[in-house]
Amino acid sequence: MRVIIEASPESVARRAAGIVADLVRRKPRCVLGLATGSTPQRTYAELIRLHRDEALDFSQVVTFNLDEYVGLGPDDPHSYRHFMRQHLFDHVNIPPGNTHVPNGLADNVDLACEQYEREIHEAGGIDLQLLGIGTDGHIAFNEPGSSLGSRTRLKTLAPETIRDNAAQFGHADRVPRLAVTVGVGTILESRRCLLLALGAAKAQAIRQTVEGPVTAQVTASALQLHRDVTILLDEAAAGQLERRAYYHEVESSQHLLETRRGPASGGVRR
Ligand code: GLP
Repeated sequence: MRVIIEASPESVARRAAGIVADLVRRKPRCVLGLATGSTPQRTYAELIRLHRDEALDFSQVVTFNLDEYVGLGPDDPHSYRHFMRQHLFDHVNIPPGNTHVPNGLADNVDLACEQYEREIHEAGGIDLQLLGIGTDGHIAFNEPGSSLGSRTRLKTLAPETIRDNAAQFGHADRVPRLAVTVGVGTILESRRCLLLALGAAKAQAIRQTVEGPVTAQVTASALQLHRDVTILLDEAAAGQLERRAYYHEVESSQHLLETRRGPASGGVRR
């Protein structure tokens, strides 16, 4: 795992958008796994800026989102489809048909989940999976206790997630209790994962994810099993990491290597 600690949420966003943009430039037909929530918003804003000011081209990019609330249609302002249109899709040149978000209104959810997995596979698999993290350490909506081999499926939200998301809905009672989410196993099949976390509220989940044991109680910890993971944090989210000084040292060595040999050198990471 490569742990990068940036000084501010803005520098996290610039760095994350830079990683996405590098891939889009190198592989214009890449497949991006996308996340919702407040954490990636600045990253999406930076990608929109790169599209506008530096002609970053999304015309061949394909995207798959992690999750969607059950019962919310694409035009519902609280749906993740709506979030993605508002924060990214409507502002870049991605063809709407290239964007995929699980269907929160499917009649046959199991079938829709199988279909979603098939679509990811047929698109060639996820090249880069962007992730946020819940305060309970969940990725996508893989709540504590989710199988680490799980696939796209229906999931019941944990009480802490309902509480965390209550503000967006005005009241906890309005937060849907169910969601369709890709599984931990689906996420682990991505070629590269980039997890972002901002703020002190995420510090404990980040410590458990990076320095704790691999456990279904903290589904982000399963990323320890993946061979290409970058954890990108601001100082507050990194606040409880015991080996912070070491992660900074690794980054300095990485920086030296990259300036000598160029970023493709592989270097000391993971
Ligand atoms: C929800 C989403 C996750 C997201 C998490 C954190 O649970 N399903 O994908 O990572 O919220 O959201 P935020 O970034 O707003 O803290």
